[in-house]
Amino acid sequence: MEIIVLDNLEAVARKSLEYVQGPRIAVSGGSTFAALFRHWAPDVRFRVDKGEVLRFFAVDERRVAFDDPDCNWKACYEDLLLPAGLGDQRDHYVTTAAAYSDLLRREFGSSPVFFDGVFLGMGEDGHTASLFPGKPTLADTESIVLDIADSPKPPPERVTLGLRPIRESGMLIAVALGAGKAERVRQLRDGDETLPITVAMKGHPRAVLLVDKAAASLL
Ligand code: 6PG
Repeated sequence: MEIIVLDNLEAVARKSLEYVQGPRIAVSGGSTFAALFRHWAPDVRFRVDKGEVLRFFAVDERRVAFDDPDCNWKACYEDLLLPAGLGDQRDHYVTTAAAYSDLLRREFGSSPVFFDGVFLGMGEDGHTASLFPGKPTLADTESIVLDIADSPKPPPERVTLGLRPIRESGMLIAVALGAGKAERVRQLRDGDETLPITVAMKGHPRAVLLVDKAAASLL
């Protein structure tokens, strides 16, 4: 895993854009990605206007209504898809594994599910996607999507990509910003497999970790 330390959010956002290579990209939720999406939108718009095909999907979603402030896809829609001219991808909003499986079947047909890029965040509590430390989902290396009923971080019910499509992706990009993530970044660098993100990234041939100086402060 390559680790790239950048000065600040703006620099991380600029660098991360280099990895927005489609056609199919899965993006995480949370505050880190909401900030990245706002930076990405003009560049993505430019590329879409030139005819580039970019199709975004959720790494995970909280089981809430689309209009709920906790909805990951609402943030992606408002901060990235709509301003980038990709508003039709609003219907990639799914809250159950059954609905996500249907969406992926429509997208990939009988071909295997394959994301050209998967962007992961990491929670201060150590979760990534909606995979949490110490949970049996970490041992599941087969499922494409999983329903989560007991997320320690609210809301408890979620849907998430499983480890398999994350590990089989073309490129894996983890992003961490701020001092609150510094300890998790250190654990990831040290290969601590109690962290789902370590399990996800370990051995991936094209994995990169983008961090700002604050998140890199314990490296
Ligand atoms: C979720 C996210 C999650 C997120 C991290 C980081 O829905 O919980 O997809 O995996 O990326 O928790 O979140 P922050 O950027 O808000 O710290």
